[in-house]
Amino acid sequence: MRAIAIVPGSAGAYLVERPEPAIASPDQVKVKTLRVGICGTDREAVTGGRSRAPEGSKELVIGHEMFGRVVEVGSTVRRVKPGDFAVFTVRRGCGQCSPCQMGRSDMCRTGKFLERGIDALDGYQTEIIVDREQYILRVPPELEPLGVLMEPLSVVEKAIDEALRLQTGRDPQAAIAPAWLVGRPCLVAGLGPIGLLGAMVLRLRGGEVYGLNVVDAANARVKWLVAIGGHYIDGRQVAPHQVEKHVGLMDFILDASGVAKLEFNLLDALASNGVYALTGIPEDGHPLQIPGAELISRMVLNNLLMVGSVNAAHGHFQMGAVDLRNAQLRWGAHIASLITNRFPPEKFSELVTKRQPEAIKEVVEWDGNPKS
Ligand code: BGC
Repeated sequence: MRAIAIVPGSAGAYLVERPEPAIASPDQVKVKTLRVGICGTDREAVTGGRSRAPEGSKELVIGHEMFGRVVEVGSTVRRVKPGDFAVFTVRRGCGQCSPCQMGRSDMCRTGKFLERGIDALDGYQTEIIVDREQYILRVPPELEPLGVLMEPLSVVEKAIDEALRLQTGRDPQAAIAPAWLVGRPCLVAGLGPIGLLGAMVLRLRGGEVYGLNVVDAANARVKWLVAIGGHYIDGRQVAPHQVEKHVGLMDFILDASGVAKLEFNLLDALASNGVYALTGIPEDGHPLQIPGAELISRMVLNNLLMVGSVNAAHGHFQMGAVDLRNAQLRWGAHIASLITNRFPPEKFSELVTKRQPEAIKEVVEWDGNPKS
């Protein structure tokens, strides 16, 4: 079968032939890949950045945002059956720490976890995938057009859920309000797929959402945000310290920008007792000059909370499925328009690094003849 591989640490990606995996234990599930999304992590890996090949191999099969159809299940599998749509999660726990033993490898303490398509385990840009039942989630048929968004959405669900739980534990208003976000100003920084899915979840939770980016208002990302009731802030005209003057301070900030300087500066836009969740992983390793004393003082004197969040557990994928369905009911086909570009596996290496300015989510179609 075909797969897309990279050599971690060097630039480029290419098609390889791999043996088709078979079910080898009663708890395994075999899935035919339908489509696989491409994200910033893949782009970084394809240009020689963060990624690791499986032990004993030079190559890594890339891809972690998969969606497929179950074709065969082992004898003990109950969560899915042949014919179901499904997604596999990304991270595989270390098996040593208690979060991993509890099925929460997203909170692994040892750092010895592996990630399919990213860190020492082959990924999903291939025709057939076999893995254990505990890592699969059934996707209802009505979500077929959106299933490939489940993984990036799970990351957003975790960050927002964590932030809200933390708020409930410390903010007296959040503790008594079952829907703390309703009517509250929320800022989403970075309007890539993660930021836009974050904006969608925050709108579903009743937040007044402002999206920050540095593109023209006519850009597809901005239009997508506005169509779900979000407002656009052009970061070229409004710096983080001016957000207050323009639209007021934010009770919640979700960062999906991956720009370290901006990630720090956004603290200027956070209201007292506000919570700030970071999901963007900066690629640029250049040292930063930041007004440390000023920032820490602001955090302390205003009860600001900043929380980093990575990966997601099974439960976050489930939250994502519920939210995708609600979004589909509320905004109809608009949600699926987040997927702007589809291409066949053989075009991956050519197109992955050449992003079109209007592209939002790009996917590789493994089952069909997409337009390239
Ligand atoms: C993936 C996560 C992963 C993280 C760190 C992200 O792109 O969506 O699942 O944990 O990268 O490798």
